[in-house]
Order: sequence, then C-alpha cells, then structure tokens
Amino acid sequence: MDFNRRFRDLIADMKLDGRYRTFIELERLADEFPTALWHRPDGGTQRVTVWCSNDYLGMGQHPDVLAAMHNTLDLSGAGTGGTRNISGTNRQHVALETELADLHGKEAALIFTSGWISNLAALGSLGRLMPDCAVFSDALNHNSMIEGIRRSGAERFIFRHNDVSHLDDLMSGVDAARPKIVAFESVYSMDGDVAPIAAMCDVAEKHGAITYLDEVHAVGLYGARGGGIAEREGVAHRLTLIEGTLAKAFGAMGGYVAGPALIIDVIRSLADSFIFTTSLCPHLAAGAVAAIQYVKAHPEDRARQAENAARLKAMLKGAGLPVLDTPSHILPVIVGDAHLCRRISELLLVDHCIYVQPINYPMVARGQERLRITPTPFHTETHMRDLVGALVNVGRDLGWAAARQAA
Ligand SMILES: Cc1ncc(COP(=O)(O)O)c(C=O)c1O
Repeated sequence: MDFNRRFRDLIADMKLDGRYRTFIELERLADEFPTALWHRPDGGTQRVTVWCSNDYLGMGQHPDVLAAMHNTLDLSGAGTGGTRNISGTNRQHVALETELADLHGKEAALIFTSGWISNLAALGSLGRLMPDCAVFSDALNHNSMIEGIRRSGAERFIFRHNDVSHLDDLMSGVDAARPKIVAFESVYSMDGDVAPIAAMCDVAEKHGAITYLDEVHAVGLYGARGGGIAEREGVAHRLTLIEGTLAKAFGAMGGYVAGPALIIDVIRSLADSFIFTTSLCPHLAAGAVAAIQYVKAHPEDRARQAENAARLKAMLKGAGLPVLDTPSHILPVIVGDAHLCRRISELLLVDHCIYVQPINYPMVARGQERLRITPTPFHTETHMRDLVGALVNVGRDLGWAAARQAA
C-alpha cells in the first residue's frame, strides 16, 4: 500500500470539508492575560486578545499559583521520576488529593495527568470491574468518557441529551440486578447548557446506579467554594464520583476523580492508565493546590466572570449576532458552515487582533460550526466592544447572513 498517498488523501479530505486544523502559535504573557503574543507565520509578532481560553479565571497567571510553582521547582525539581507506585508519589500529590476531596465533600480523590485520562481510567476500570455492568451515557458526553466506557467493555446505553425520562426508560429495560453507572456532564462545553443533575440522580438512585459527573467546565466557577454545579445545587453528596480538571478554571494541568474511599482505592489499584504512567510534576500539583485554595476563598472572581459573560451575551444579542442563550459562561456564536467559520476566525485574528478558534466537526455536528467564546474576569468592556464590532464587520464582509442583518 502507498501509505503516503493514503495520508495525503486523508489530509486533503479534511481540508476540503473545512475540518483541517491549524494551530496558531501563541506566547502567553503571564501578567497580561487575556492578551497574548501571536507569532505569525511570516516571522513577525502581534499582540492579540484571546477570547477562547479555558483558563476561565486567569488562574494560570495568578501570583499565588506562580509562587507555589516556582518554590516547588526550586525545592523538588522538574519531574517526579516515576509512576505513583515507583517513587512517584510526592507530598504535593497527597496535598492536592486532600484539597480536592475537601472541595467536593468526598472521602478521597485521585489525580491523573489530565482530565481526559481521569475519565479513561475511572470509567474504563469501573465498567470493567463490575461483571455485567451497564453504563448509561449522555448522547453529548465528551470523547474521554466515551473512550473510557468503550474501553471498559461494559454494555453502553446512550440516552438523549439531558433527557431524564429517556434515561429512566432505558434503565427500566435493564435487569434490576445488573450493576449500573450513569455518566454525564454538568456544563456541556460546546453548547454551554447545564444538566438537570438532581433529576438525573433521582432516576439513578431509583435504579441503584453509581452516578458519575464530569464537572470539567464547572469546577472553580460555580458553587460557594467553586465545587461546581453540583455544589451550587446542593447535590454533590448524591453523586458517587465527581470528575474534574486542573487545566481550566484552576489554570494548571491534570485531572482527578473524587468519591468514596473504597472506589477511589479500586481505581488507584486497578486502573492501568493510572498505574503505568509517570505522575504529575510536583510543581503542577503545588500550583493546583494554590489555585484551589484561592478559588475556594474568592467567590468574587467567579461572580465577575459571570457578570462579564452576561454582559457580553447581552452585547452579542443586542448586535443581532446568533449567540446561544446558555445558562453558563460558555457563549457559542453559531455560524453553521465550516469554511465560513474558519474564515471569520482568520480575519478576526489578522485584521482585528482577536483570537477565537473556529469549532468544527467532529467537536460539533456538521452544520453546527461555531465560535466558542469564553469571557473571563479579565476581559474589559473595551475588549467586549472590540469583539462585537469586529464580528459584525468581518461577518458582513464575508457575507455571513447573521452579521449582515446585525450590521
Ligand atoms: C467535558 C470534558 N471532560 C474532560 C476533558 C478533558 O480534560 P483535560 O483537558 O484536563 O484533559 C475535557 C476537555 O476539554 C472536557 O471538555
């Protein structure tokens, strides 16, 4: 087989239908977020405003986080030198797990090198370790949950997105004696909508299932101490396991699950994607501890982020731009065409120094291509006015019907 031809064809197909991804080379500026330096392909640089970062609270530049990381680097060096089993369990890991268990009001927590791996390890092992397990998975669950469930080998039932009665129907059709897991997210990252967590728990409890909630896009941002939507709604205790990331609102890197000590011990002892990989760098763990401690004690940052999200949403709507009316901080502006979406993003960057990544298939369904805008507490009124004005101008120039109407 001519492999190169096959690979060239694959890339050509992606380019043809607008799925080919290009990375823009950014240099983050530690005290200027959301401004960053774009290293252009022509060798020049340009300051840009980032509107699509998941560093939702700007914790990636917070002085407490940076100080903790610097101190730990000086104290402990760069890597850990091993898996958790083989010399890789550092005191920063233990401190972080204690902090996370406390954040979610759970007995224990276990950290991983990313949120993606957390889902793979936790769902992959639980589904495998309970004979004849049935996993009920929301239709819009993240790729990492889908991969975890697939890897577990458990039978999978997909319920319509956020549809509690469909979940109930599916669960009712499965033998009551079988072990069951209900896996879903709180804030869905592409549409910014929120799951009816209490109602999901009602159904899961009725059928005696383990509940597994991915709060990756909610931890740090919702709840009195930033414990997520489950904390905000007073239902965290009803969820068996809560999974989260350290890479978004906590500004660092890594992921975790929090839950009953016995289940956490089972994952720790039997998940191969935890056992056979080097542990998180100590400075990342220390930075995450500092971020969580700060976020727990500073609700005003999430309040400012929520205010900014509401303000920008009103401005986008006021300009007639097709922003989804989400109940979260995620503001998707629907374009509905892959090539147009990419072109809008390019012109925003080149002509207006604004960076919003186009979101195309497979991250969203074809025809649902969008700009996913994520305001932070650091975006100012001027940033917002510039963004809305630029979207209207670029869209009008490119013949984007929604922006033409807005103009
Ligand atoms: C819902 C959800 N879960 C898990 C992840 C993976 O988290 P991480 O980026 O820490 O690997 C993501 C990533 O964006 C996500 O959107």
